[in-house]
Amino acid sequence: MKSKNILSLVVIFAALAIISSQSLAKDSQIDKKVNDLIAKMTLEEKVGQMAQYTIHGANDIELENQIKPLVKKGGVGSFLGLAGKNTPELRNELQKIAVEQSRLGIPLILGYDVIHGYRTMFPIPLAQSCSWNLDLAQKAAAIAAKEASAAGQDWTFAPMIDIARDPRWGRIAEGFGEDPYLCSLFAAAKVKGFQGDDLKDPSSLAACLKHFAAYGAVQAGREYHTVDISKRTLWETYLPPFKAGVDAGALTLMTAFNEINGIPASGDPYLLNDILRDQWGFEGFVVSDYNSVFQMISHGYAEDAGDSAVKGVTAGCEMFMESKASIEALPQQVKDGKLSEKVIDEAVRRILKIKYRIGLFENPYVDTTLADKVTLTKENIAVARQLARESFVLLKNDGLLPLKKNKIKTIGIIGPLANNKDDMMGTWAGSGDPNDAVTILDGIKQQIAPGTQVLYAKGCDVDSDSTKGFAKAIKVAVVSDVVIMVIGESAELNGEAHSRSNINLPGVQRRLVELVKATGTPIAVVLITGRPLTISWLEENVPAILVAWHPGIQAGPAVADTLFGDFNPSGKLTVTFPRTLGQVPIFYNHKNTGRPANKKDRYTSKYIDVHWTPLYPFGYGLSYTKFDYSNLKLNKKKIKIGDSLIVTADITNTGDVAGEEIVQLYLQDLFASVTRPVRELKGFTKLKLNPGQTKTVSFVITKERLSFYNDKMKYLVEPGDFKVWVAPDSVSGLEGKFTVTAN
Ligand code: BGC
Repeated sequence: MKSKNILSLVVIFAALAIISSQSLAKDSQIDKKVNDLIAKMTLEEKVGQMAQYTIHGANDIELENQIKPLVKKGGVGSFLGLAGKNTPELRNELQKIAVEQSRLGIPLILGYDVIHGYRTMFPIPLAQSCSWNLDLAQKAAAIAAKEASAAGQDWTFAPMIDIARDPRWGRIAEGFGEDPYLCSLFAAAKVKGFQGDDLKDPSSLAACLKHFAAYGAVQAGREYHTVDISKRTLWETYLPPFKAGVDAGALTLMTAFNEINGIPASGDPYLLNDILRDQWGFEGFVVSDYNSVFQMISHGYAEDAGDSAVKGVTAGCEMFMESKASIEALPQQVKDGKLSEKVIDEAVRRILKIKYRIGLFENPYVDTTLADKVTLTKENIAVARQLARESFVLLKNDGLLPLKKNKIKTIGIIGPLANNKDDMMGTWAGSGDPNDAVTILDGIKQQIAPGTQVLYAKGCDVDSDSTKGFAKAIKVAVVSDVVIMVIGESAELNGEAHSRSNINLPGVQRRLVELVKATGTPIAVVLITGRPLTISWLEENVPAILVAWHPGIQAGPAVADTLFGDFNPSGKLTVTFPRTLGQVPIFYNHKNTGRPANKKDRYTSKYIDVHWTPLYPFGYGLSYTKFDYSNLKLNKKKIKIGDSLIVTADITNTGDVAGEEIVQLYLQDLFASVTRPVRELKGFTKLKLNPGQTKTVSFVITKERLSFYNDKMKYLVEPGDFKVWVAPDSVSGLEGKFTVTAN
């Protein structure tokens, strides 16, 4: 038996050795081809490869007179934003010019923001993260890649993995929440989903980790604002998802618009060269965000276009998205001796390598008949429905939900987002079609028991002062047995350039809820939003709140499944909901301070006008059943540095319906050479439990889970005492303690 095992190990190692020598050989073949090409290129052709221009909205005249001639002369390496009906055909047309008519035949690479779906629009990324379901999120990315690649795209500007702790920032919707550990797992899952197992597979896309780095830390949540954070915060909070994405094989990265500690990210050699290349060994290329190289002039970091270009490329930014003036100034910088052509060669080398690696030279065209076959299929739509349901978080339930279909004679559906397709799509849904979306009103109508009357009133707009619709809404509420209020934010209020200084329910929506409540009809709120909102009043005044985010095209069916109990909600928040805006930034993994908040002591860290805790903490979410946590066990109370220990706990479904529970593992290092957060998420598992069923969860606490950057910024474990929790959220759970001793 033993010798058999050894033999199979030998076979595995031999196979691995063959595979890795094959891929090394492939790499060296690519290197040779790239070097041969570079040797033939003029300086202008090299700079052309570094140029990425937007093609979105180009008319026929621009296409004929500017774009096609530019491709022909090798003046552009990439386009972004190719959209519209005949995308595959246009792609092939442009590609044909690049491959068959330009001097060196270098194919274009086409990029697009495939953020949460191409045509099959899935929930926004923040919502997806609340599912804590990495496999499903990966599947959604693979579907998006299949649809987008069939439409002619090669490359997605996703995943967006900026940690965000400030809900004023509109782009919080695009990321995976506030926690670096969870976001890192989603980063890797998305990269694998987009890129698949074979980079040359025509149904995969090259991924792009963005925005490198710390864009989520803009001051006061104000879009494009300054970022000034410590090196520790950068490394502990903002960089881990990027490291995870690079380790998962992401082929490209995008810079951020912001400066960090005085240096704009698109010209920051510490980020792009030191960390990314030298420390992490990244081999792909970096694209700047839209015009951000040129914008280094406004930042006050570059003197003029030429200087911005030199600073960008020297720092390690290989492709300039737009920044046309900077690109155009680049050749002269070389001629004037301000930049060595070798730096340009290296940038072009990286870009060409990726073009080879994803198979563009071998297979530059797309099959124009494919899109119809792979787009919006039944399977794709089923994944959209499942991911939407799993992303919903039940914030409050006094027992009103699930609704009992057969007991309702009249149901009132009220609110500006109930009979609404556009806003279900969320931010960054340019390639989607709102006509594909099923409204929440229609979803409910499709599932309600025959004979139940469904009444609808819009009530008001998402964001206006008009109360004209109130009277009808009140009439509906008065005659209904129950009211579903679908309120919140439009997609428009989220995303890039949509920071808000107030995160309450926009417009007159709160007043509408007050009036509906006054009718005495019970209300379940379905909250549509791309960010946490300040909804303390709702928490105090309505019996049930389900946050459904911007759920994508299957909004209606997914919400109805959940309201009627055909699906038991299992999502947990990946971002903290504050009680008031004044608490922001508020996040679960904060420090303890020297005077931790204490009700009885005024001179502790808190506010005088609001409780210090959030309205809903990270990790929180209810179910239609109840889960009991018991029997926490640690297999060792003491371990040496480098050793592991196992924590187990029993989770029991004590209610009377089946449900899923996201069980979370948290640690706290109680004393260290630098202070550590009160809790840090270190693991989780999603359990399915039938009524009365108990399952034991088990987590291994490894060296990696205990490590942190010490006072010398070295990543290691220090001896000392640790707390551990197996918990349903970031503020409760079963608590244990163990000690790590020096070797
Ligand atoms: C955004 C990027 C996006 C790019 C291309 C920029 O404004 O910041 O996230 O990928 O536009 O659309």
